[in-house]
Amino acid sequence: MLTVGVDVGTSAVKLIVMNETGEILRTVSRDYPLYLFNGGWSEQSPEDWWEATASALREVTAEYKDIAAVSFSGQMHGLVALDGDGNVLRRAILWNDQRTQAECDYLNNVIGRETLLENAANIALTGFTLPKVLWMKNNEPELYGRIKMVMLPKDYIAYKLTGIAATDYSDASGTLLLDVKKQDWSDRMLEIAGLTRTQVPKLFKSYETVGAVTDNAAEETGLSASSKVVIGGGDQAVGAIGTGTVEEGTCSVSLGTSGVLFVAMDGFAVDTSPAAIHAFCHANGRYHMMGVTLAAAGSSKWWIEQILNTDDYSAEQKEINILGQNKVYYLPYLSGERTPHNNPLARGAFVGMSMSTSRAEMTQAMLEGVAFSLRDILTRIRALGKEVSAARIIGGGAKSPLWCQIVADVLNVKVQKIHSGEGPALGAAILAMVGAGAYATVEEACAKIIKTTETFIPNAKIAAEYDKHYGIYTHLYETLKETYTRIFEV
Ligand code: XUL
Repeated sequence: MLTVGVDVGTSAVKLIVMNETGEILRTVSRDYPLYLFNGGWSEQSPEDWWEATASALREVTAEYKDIAAVSFSGQMHGLVALDGDGNVLRRAILWNDQRTQAECDYLNNVIGRETLLENAANIALTGFTLPKVLWMKNNEPELYGRIKMVMLPKDYIAYKLTGIAATDYSDASGTLLLDVKKQDWSDRMLEIAGLTRTQVPKLFKSYETVGAVTDNAAEETGLSASSKVVIGGGDQAVGAIGTGTVEEGTCSVSLGTSGVLFVAMDGFAVDTSPAAIHAFCHANGRYHMMGVTLAAAGSSKWWIEQILNTDDYSAEQKEINILGQNKVYYLPYLSGERTPHNNPLARGAFVGMSMSTSRAEMTQAMLEGVAFSLRDILTRIRALGKEVSAARIIGGGAKSPLWCQIVADVLNVKVQKIHSGEGPALGAAILAMVGAGAYATVEEACAKIIKTTETFIPNAKIAAEYDKHYGIYTHLYETLKETYTRIFEV
């Protein structure tokens, strides 16, 4: 049996073709534009996602005719608003867009955190979908009035393939419209959004089949009407599936554009602290918690490509060989910060340079700063009583053995790579396998398909040094917090 896993990412869509033993036969990717403007606004065109996905599917189906099922991993939280004819009303407002502080203040302070925690298990953060819906209501009332359906990025692709408005519990968790505990839309949250149940998609488990490919979509993609469309999930939950992070207490770390520390859980739990660790449904039908740092590999891309003006990442890391001694610190808040500060005004900083500071020390500080931001998340998750002693690592940043070692030392946990770097696309292909009946459960499929490879063991001495450095790192944010606000006032 063959399945296709589609990862609708922020810079590109990536497809893999996989057989039931987990062998990846083909990888195809297509880029699309990302519109960053107004200092913190971030949008993409859903039509671009569809054109790129359809074209990549055509490439795949030209070679592989018998695709049993297709499933998805999608960048989370993005607001896709459709009119009554199924046309997009405006470009999608993405997960890293920071325009909704006023709407978040209204939700958290006027509606109140307690109401949000009780009905949606999470408070309002600028990245989440409901604040974006309210932003449309406040700033684009005419368009808002024409909304017939609100969906998430990957759901738009499933909709184009099947004509059915569907979503899954893991992705819906990040809208702030889902009652995460009950696994159903929350009537109270929909009322706050000014939406009804007819304006949100039907909910499915990530491994459930939504429907069949329409004739039009079959023509556009080369898929046959017998291919199943399995809904998939948010990229963090599906990426975790792609690392086999499915059993209670297991952890994964993603060093993608954003950085995520994710813990799988059998039962529901909620974080009532201001750090707002996300309490979401997992793509295996259970739950998870995670925190998100907004610029992980994003920091690396900015530093190496935009500032150092090179694309040779490993050459820039070659001279870094002493860990735990760096006197330079980096705060990775290039896109503001989500966990634990939830501060869209936070910004990046290098601190501690001297006349003898080298380029390599600055690069090292950047890698360490991102690892410290992951430690901020781990500290909060531990405070909620979850113990973590090992993490599986994915994302572009995990290609660097040095960065994996730094993460192991800074978190003081064993870090394991897995046999495939495909992460979310692999998770999606696994969900498609389960949907198509090749495996009875997601856990069974993961046990069969995912294999760990390299392990990075924390060095006790270096970890102890990093403990001290982490204290300075956390103090730096406290020191700069007020300054960040003043930067925007001047
Ligand atoms: C998760 C989040 C990001 C996006 C990136 O909460 O905002 O990881 O899903 O794709």
